[in-house]
Amino acid sequence: MKTPRTIVVGITGGIAAYKAVNIVRAFVLNGDSVHVVATPAALRFVGKPTLEAISRNPVHTDLYEGVAEVRHVAIGQGADLIVVAPATANSIAKLAAGLADDLLGNTILASTAPLVIAPAMHTEMWNNPATVANIAVLRSRGITIVGPGVGRLTGTDSGAGRMEEPDTIVAVALAVLDRATPAGEAAASAVPDLAGRRVLISAGGTREPLDPVRFLGNRSSGMQGVALAQAALARGARVTFVAANLEVPVPTSITTVLVGSALEMHEAMTRAAETAEVIIMAAAVADYRPRSVQVGKIKKEDVGDTLMLELVKNPDILADLAAERRPGQLIIGFAAETETDADRLLALGRAKITRKGCDFLVVNRVGKDAGFGTERNTVTVLDRRGVIVNEVSGSKMSVANCILDLIG
Ligand code: C5P
Repeated sequence: MKTPRTIVVGITGGIAAYKAVNIVRAFVLNGDSVHVVATPAALRFVGKPTLEAISRNPVHTDLYEGVAEVRHVAIGQGADLIVVAPATANSIAKLAAGLADDLLGNTILASTAPLVIAPAMHTEMWNNPATVANIAVLRSRGITIVGPGVGRLTGTDSGAGRMEEPDTIVAVALAVLDRATPAGEAAASAVPDLAGRRVLISAGGTREPLDPVRFLGNRSSGMQGVALAQAALARGARVTFVAANLEVPVPTSITTVLVGSALEMHEAMTRAAETAEVIIMAAAVADYRPRSVQVGKIKKEDVGDTLMLELVKNPDILADLAAERRPGQLIIGFAAETETDADRLLALGRAKITRKGCDFLVVNRVGKDAGFGTERNTVTVLDRRGVIVNEVSGSKMSVANCILDLIG
């Protein structure tokens, strides 16, 4: 059984405070111990009893309660992670200035735990030079900023400033926490080691159209690619995500290009590669596509008992990117194979990395029970010489972090 970690969830006074309840619940369900520190303004949007019931702990607000137990610093000292969601423009300004005029401010100043904040405000406030400068200060201190997303705001307007979806905030926060407190190891630095690095990730499975309603596809859910994007974001990278037909939500705070087919992915990846320092091809790309796409639906009445499909080869995106790489660009590919014999699986991986010309190849076995659509993954990472540089089995998030560790 895992040891519960202590997560402090700071809630400040914005309408998105009601969504913080889901964040608290997700941490509790993950087996972590959650303490909510809400500002008085936050409690005008969401009730203390709700937060106490969901967090299973008392909710603290007042700086002048619990003075005998030095609560204003005790909560922060005991935290393994602090997440502020939503973080209003006002609370961001206070954080940047290091103000401690309420319990949350004291808790944060008294803590050495990593801090993740999820800004939420109207677009004008987010774009205001004061907020822009405050966010830059927080980033420079190694604080992880998740979002904000772009979309519908509280009123009838839309734009940047909407709090990132709770699932994404939780995933990024847990990735930050996992890195700060790896099991059985001394706490590592939580400073984002990929700060500012431009990372391009492809994910999902391409669909090759046969007619307006049918396609040839594969079982890739995109989960490993999404975990890579979330982990890279949590480690400070500037992530561009090229996503094909994902079965899992794409974090809205990540710049995403949606594609359908292999040809569309080829075009999107080639364009995005021009500015990328690191490319990770986690997508399952169809090797072949139908030579022609029927304009109307293929009808069995017209075809008869046997339908012959003529397929033509798709470009190999990974091989093309490796052949045209920019100086210093690091390229990582995947090899999803159904081979069950470990030695033969490795031999396939070694042949593949030579053929593709990438720097590292993440080899994994896939099938109905492994790899695709599952929560966990087991991978072996090979370098250009075919030497095993890492073997990992665990959650897709932990596999993602091991892959990102390859980025020097
Ligand atoms: O050849 P194979 O499909 O096994 O290679 C897998 C790796 O190559 C993955 O990284 C995948 O994203 C990439 N790939 C590609 N273009 C293709 C086929 C695979 O980039 N047409």
